[in-house]
Amino acid sequence: MDVTVGVIGLGNVGSGTLEILAENGARIREKLGFPLRVKAICSRNVARKKAPAFPDAVTRTTDWREVVRDPEIDIIVELVGGTATAGHIIEEALRNRKSVVTANKELMAIRGAELWAMASENGVNLAMEASVAGGIPIHTILREGIAGDRVCELYGVLNGTSNFILTEIEKSNAKFESVLAEAQQLGYAEADPSADVDGLDARSKLAILAALAFGERLTPADIYTEGIRRILPVDFEYAHQLKHTIRLLCLARQSDDGLLLSVRPSLIPQSAILAQVQGAYNAVWIRGAYGEDTFYYGRGAGPKPTGVAVVSDLMRVAREIRHGSPDRVSPFAHERLGEYKPLPIPTQALPYFLRFRVEDKAGIIATLATILAKHQIGIDAVLQLPREDWRDLPFVITTEPAKEQAIRDALVEIREADFLVEAPLAMPMERGF
Ligand code: HSE
Repeated sequence: MDVTVGVIGLGNVGSGTLEILAENGARIREKLGFPLRVKAICSRNVARKKAPAFPDAVTRTTDWREVVRDPEIDIIVELVGGTATAGHIIEEALRNRKSVVTANKELMAIRGAELWAMASENGVNLAMEASVAGGIPIHTILREGIAGDRVCELYGVLNGTSNFILTEIEKSNAKFESVLAEAQQLGYAEADPSADVDGLDARSKLAILAALAFGERLTPADIYTEGIRRILPVDFEYAHQLKHTIRLLCLARQSDDGLLLSVRPSLIPQSAILAQVQGAYNAVWIRGAYGEDTFYYGRGAGPKPTGVAVVSDLMRVAREIRHGSPDRVSPFAHERLGEYKPLPIPTQALPYFLRFRVEDKAGIIATLATILAKHQIGIDAVLQLPREDWRDLPFVITTEPAKEQAIRDALVEIREADFLVEAPLAMPMERGF
């Protein structure tokens, strides 16, 4: 007997999912021992959407309620995105005792634990492999592959658009704005790029991975987040002098005091495995107490890589339905999540890379050194490339490990200086890589 599927949302991921289900249908059937049958597809403009041919008739509709109420459909695939309609679709599907497969990171980051509780009450499943790092099966790894370990640290490059932009700035010395325009032309960046370049997309993904890794339910807005808009080509030049590079680093680090989380441009050594992650790729590096380091790499987005994640979830959920499995593994790897407030970022102590743009004159370094010393911040190095324009001179001071609070306090004072062209940029230099 087959297991039937209704797909709601026919954008890039929806189309990729349908193509894989059609083209790879025979192999999927061989693996499962029964077919996955697409019974209905739904989109606001379904009439204009092309869909591959399936052996059985497929209902096409613009009304998602028709799909979630269809008694013959076992699994709903929610690929609408956003939090409003997608939330209604998932709730109604679960109430109707249909399992749900979703790629919706934003919704799962905010309401995932609540929706999982609802799925459990209704005896159905909720699966979300496609919501983080499209082509990398990172949920499966955390949920099952290394479930026996205790995760201590997790580092990720989780936004392909930002990584594409940063690595293009690094390679071509071009400015953020022109690389963003190129990324938009290539289809890597949206017309409104803020979710990607301001770190919000990565923040949702980190909230989900941290829940899986540490069993804590985190409000995404509680995660300290900075985007990449201020990064200049010269930042890479200075970072390279220090044998480092810059990545939009997502981190979750467990310490005796608690869990520290952030999404921010950071310096990492050029020798680090995450520094090799180029272009629109994603990667996750996990350090476990027992299994030590494991690393996962792949495409973070795209119709086919993300489609594979959706189809693989469908296969797992279909197997459970077919074999009547009463025990499902929580999509968060923990039956219950705690409620957690991350440690405040100002408490972390790291070396910092401080980049200044100044109108040059005598005494600038002396002023900065005095203010840093006042806040007990030791200077490690002062880097200055030959001056091209005295009215906008970029240079860098790296510090000894210091509390971020001290750095912030010093920068507030420094901001009063009359020689600054723009506010200083501070980035942590990550250790332990
Ligand atoms: N916009 C995301 C990225 C892909 O650039 O990585 C979807 O999560």
